Amino acid sequence: MTTASTNATQTSPATDPLHLIDVDHVRFYVGNAKQAAYFYAHTFGFNISQIADLTTGSRDESDYLLTQGNIRLMFTTPLTKDHPAAEEVKLYGDGVKDVAFTVHDAVKAYEQAIKNGAESAREPREITDERGTVVVASIKTYGRCILSFVSRSGDYALPKVKAGGEFMPVFKKMHSPVNDHNTANPCGLKYVDHLVGNVELGKMNHWVEWYAEVMGFTMFKHFDDADISTEFSALMSKVMSSGNNLIKMPINEPAPGKKKSQIQEYLEWHNMAPGVQHLAFRTDDALESVAELRRRGVDFLALPDTYYDAVWDRVNTMLTKHGHKAVKEDHTRIKDLGILVDADDEGYLLQLFTKPLQDRPTLFFEIITRRGSQSFGKGNFKALFEALEIEQERRGNL
Ligand code: FE2
Repeated sequence: MTTASTNATQTSPATDPLHLIDVDHVRFYVGNAKQAAYFYAHTFGFNISQIADLTTGSRDESDYLLTQGNIRLMFTTPLTKDHPAAEEVKLYGDGVKDVAFTVHDAVKAYEQAIKNGAESAREPREITDERGTVVVASIKTYGRCILSFVSRSGDYALPKVKAGGEFMPVFKKMHSPVNDHNTANPCGLKYVDHLVGNVELGKMNHWVEWYAEVMGFTMFKHFDDADISTEFSALMSKVMSSGNNLIKMPINEPAPGKKKSQIQEYLEWHNMAPGVQHLAFRTDDALESVAELRRRGVDFLALPDTYYDAVWDRVNTMLTKHGHKAVKEDHTRIKDLGILVDADDEGYLLQLFTKPLQDRPTLFFEIITRRGSQSFGKGNFKALFEALEIEQERRGNL
């Protein structure tokens, strides 16, 4: 039986300073934002929408805002050796630094989080000009990552940003020919479905409690939760969900096994610091999205050939048992595109994982379509782990 949280204090947006309105943006620290922007634009169909750099008055960093659907990715690179991102790129390579949420009042959200036990990463700061104001405040979460609270007003209010308005002062709109290509050939990614963190061995429960106490998140209980750690040895995972179900943030820790855990491999190539393992983007049509992403050269994880021998029986049996219709998408096309399928008591999902997005085997993306199912594809873990082990072997990391 799938249930959302049970022990959450129900709060209304008006009274809860930690009520999350949206995922404002996800910030990456990268070695070269200009080049990273083109990679993510060309391969994943994000528009290069806005920049802040030397030409717009940003003297210490360059920022590229990439957008698609309701997804905003910010690629930041340091322009000076003393910028904090310079040290982080050295330690971790390219990856996610900051998960930023839009809130009504960033100062109040920050103060509440601190009161709840969070450690400050950056005190509230106001970025303002004659057109509007953006307030940002940040707290530390696992490893090298921070969570930011962002409140917006005037021309920088979120609905205006979504409609193409400037992100905040110092940003200017940009037009790249790749944006025209993306409009003509959409990848269909709509929003961040979930965002997964890898933490150290033995620290999963600590961070589960942290998300409950500091952020008011609740454990997303699902009928298969207990199976993950017992059936396969490579990882343990618990899913935390924001009170209003805006976002789910699963937390993984390595688990002892005969071979090196994928989580352990991540940590070893991430200077042993926890961080974001993958971002999952929701699309209404995984087949169309994956077909377009493959045309663009996205490197997806390859499944064992045997995967499709058993999948339809497994998935459709589960769907029938719970009174749902069978998978409606063309089975042959799903196989040709190498998409994974899983089902639970609520329906099914289609998902596929990329290989690491940078040279270090750290961050990757997931593409996901949900047809009722709210889980994470547990039925695919075995096939995935086998595929991952083949890749780890190729990297000499097993
Ligand atoms: Fe995922």
